[in-house]
Amino acid sequence: MGGGSYKRVYRSTAYKSRLTNGLRDDHDYIVIGLTVLKRGLALLERGTAAIGVVDKALSFLARFADQCHHGKEELILFPLLERRGMQFERSPLKELVSEHGMGRYFLRNARRAAERYGSGEGEALGDLEHYFESYFNLIIGHIGKENKVLFKMADNYIGPDEGVAEAEKIEEQLGYAELLAELEAIKRELTQIGQS
Ligand SMILES: [Fe+2]
Ligand SMILES: [Fe+2]
Repeated sequence: MGGGSYKRVYRSTAYKSRLTNGLRDDHDYIVIGLTVLKRGLALLERGTAAIGVVDKALSFLARFADQCHHGKEELILFPLLERRGMQFERSPLKELVSEHGMGRYFLRNARRAAERYGSGEGEALGDLEHYFESYFNLIIGHIGKENKVLFKMADNYIGPDEGVAEAEKIEEQLGYAELLAELEAIKRELTQIGQS
């Protein structure tokens, strides 16, 4: 089930199986998750959505973006680049790893605020919006840096198949295909709410 991202990407491009291809693919799904969440929050503000769908989108991002995607970067791609001579302190790695940490902080607090809102604390909505906005801006900027800078550098440091099997193993363990199915279901749920 896992590993679909790599296979799908390299079937449709001239690339061979590259670790960065799968990671770029993840970025697209993360942006979809963020967009869905933004829409969910807008509906919540208007009182037309339940907190449940926002919770689901936050939970998706915690598992897909933080655990799975940042996990693959921090356990496979970044250490591989370090072993090939990229210096942590003098390369984009330091900033990117720090941003993963900041993202986790914003996301955890957004989830905490959603929990408070769900248990009747109306004023927690402001906190939820604040942490979501911080998370959204951080991750969009972060993805841009990786796509435009780090991944291009990485393709010169590592060979075509390197790290791919390990990345697929992590995806398998974390239920990559199921996570993407979950994203689709959240999207559908929001469309239905938006139309009602
Ligand atoms: Fe990253
Ligand atoms: Fe990334």
